[in-house]
Amino acid sequence: MKTSDTVLITGASSGIGFELAKVFASHTYNIVLVSRSVEKMKKLAKELTNKYKIKVHVIAQDLSKTGAAQELFHEVIDRNLQVDILVNNAGIGAVGLFHHMKMEKDIEMLQLNIVTLTEITKLFSKKMIERGYGKILNVASTGSFAPGPFIAVYYATKAYVLSFSEAIYRELKPYNITVSTLCPGATRTNFAKSAGRKNSSIAMMPDKVARIAYKGLKNNKKLIIPGLANKILVMLPRNFISNMVFKYQKKLAKLSK
Ligand SMILES: NC(=O)c1ccc[n+]([C@@H]2O[C@H](COP(=O)([O-])OP(=O)(O)OC[C@H]3O[C@@H](n4cnc5c(N)ncnc54)[C@H](OP(=O)(O)O)[C@@H]3O)[C@@H](O)[C@H]2O)c1
Repeated sequence: MKTSDTVLITGASSGIGFELAKVFASHTYNIVLVSRSVEKMKKLAKELTNKYKIKVHVIAQDLSKTGAAQELFHEVIDRNLQVDILVNNAGIGAVGLFHHMKMEKDIEMLQLNIVTLTEITKLFSKKMIERGYGKILNVASTGSFAPGPFIAVYYATKAYVLSFSEAIYRELKPYNITVSTLCPGATRTNFAKSAGRKNSSIAMMPDKVARIAYKGLKNNKKLIIPGLANKILVMLPRNFISNMVFKYQKKLAKLSK
């Protein structure tokens, strides 16, 4: 990882993605910020450019729309940018009983968390193969390790991200491309609110998660699980985790009403 590299971060307008942008900037990487919130990204870009004398590009894109990955890829090419490090961080969740949840929400989640992430990875990894170098950080979750009653679709999308990323880790290694999967546990961001519940009292701070993720990526770690409690959690039996998740999500969802 060279400090002149350019890193593209999806979901860079808040939470973990926002903090990752700050960490990469502090190590003087050039950055491409992607999300829907242009003003937030412009403000961040200005702050990082002034502070670290790096180049920060802003691309406004709704990644839950069909064809969004292609549009993003072409925008990057049109701007003559080369993405050396790809961070697929944008993601949404939703808490509630599956049969009560709106179908549109499920589809938005599947499209953003799975389809777009897969398409972006394919498009940018092909370019990385041509250049013989690249790094990919895909953001999954501790929810990737077991079924999540009361948050079923979200956990299933994150199980996909983990499985997919670990598989291509092996495929891309001979091309000098590393694929790291970040599996945060509860983190104090906008995620809980937009997923329809309160933040957990034990949630980690996003800047800490971002620093751990950066270090893991730099050290070519296949799996990055921030925090000891989360590391222990993912080693528990699947059934046990699933029971725990049911009670925990139900309680948080009720508290949020
Ligand atoms: N927080 C947690 O407890 C937790 C735990 C495990 C894993 N994660 C994962 O961590 C990642 C980051 O989440 P976070 O906690 O940082 O949440 P966050 O603060 O809500 O940030 C989510 C980011 O994704 C972007 N995003 C959402 N929908 C988008 C869309 N349709 N198109 C483009 N960008 C979109 C948001 O930007 P705009 O709204 O501006 O578009 C925002 O920048 C997600 O993949 C999440 O699943 C979070």
